[in-house]
Amino acid sequence: MNDLSGTFSMPAPAPLAPGVTLHDFAPIQESFAEALVKGLSQPSKAIPARFLYDEHGSRLFDRICELPEYYPTRTELSILRDRAAEIATVIGPHAALVEFGAGSSQKARLVLDALDVPVAYVPIDVSRAHLIQLAEEIAADHPGLEVAAVCADYTQPLELPEFTQRARRVGFFPGSTIGNLPREEARAFLSAWAGQLSGDGVMIVGVDLKKPIEIVLPAYDDAQGVTAAFSLNVLARANREAAADFDLASFRHHVTYDPASGQVAIHLESLRDQQASVAGRTFRFAKGELVHVEDSNKYAVEEFQALAREAGYTPEAVWIDPKGLFSVHALRVG
Ligand code: TRP
Repeated sequence: MNDLSGTFSMPAPAPLAPGVTLHDFAPIQESFAEALVKGLSQPSKAIPARFLYDEHGSRLFDRICELPEYYPTRTELSILRDRAAEIATVIGPHAALVEFGAGSSQKARLVLDALDVPVAYVPIDVSRAHLIQLAEEIAADHPGLEVAAVCADYTQPLELPEFTQRARRVGFFPGSTIGNLPREEARAFLSAWAGQLSGDGVMIVGVDLKKPIEIVLPAYDDAQGVTAAFSLNVLARANREAAADFDLASFRHHVTYDPASGQVAIHLESLRDQQASVAGRTFRFAKGELVHVEDSNKYAVEEFQALAREAGYTPEAVWIDPKGLFSVHALRVG
């Protein structure tokens, strides 16, 4: 909470590096304790996956991306690297590349470096510190590029900044993050942004492909247990930050994959009848009870193209790695 009673002076905004502007929509950061109490009060318990990524969780996720079993990150990077020239041709000149989420700058760099006279890079993220760091790194390596960092929740409608030059707005949504949304929300996201991108704009989306269970399951439940540590960290975080007393040894990382629907479901399983308190509230967990953490939906090429059409796009190109693990789609607005 802001306490405005004592002083009326605002802290001086931190000066940004040359080429960078910050467009701060001051997204309200939801309290972890409140969200946790709400999620655990439902008949079917859940913990919102966005709370997985505290400092420790983000470090664990970086380690996941390096695991031999976790194919999505390195495969998407290889597609962006190998097909950068074709992607740049589909996007065309004078683009403002709007990235949903400021992940690692690596993926955006591969696209930006291939583009013909790009005008701007516009990362949108709720995490202000991470956003500014990413924006400054990209600006330092791309003199002349306007880097307009937007601090906001990209699932909510917002007005994009204007640039000094006319630019074609192009969306960039890597990481198969779209697969973490339920299908209906993925469609709603694409459709909301169709109206915000330029008439001749495109959306470049990374989408994990449906594939045999022998490949998918280990990617979400690796031999070293890094992924298990990542999902259990949300309980450790609750103990640290939300006045909770979870016994971490009494929960287990639990993953299923349904090859027909393409849905990976990630849960924490209670290993015994137990109770835990969160911010003064007590919750019971039966032995075998599952607490939902995240879904990761996989799509066949035609399924994702059908979703894109429903959302107001015309699928224009799709790039797939030689092993058929991952896809990068180019969707034309309209
Ligand atoms: N976007 C990632 C994915 O769906 C998120 C993720 C990877 C994840 N591994 C996880 C989320 C394990 C929770 C637990 O591939």
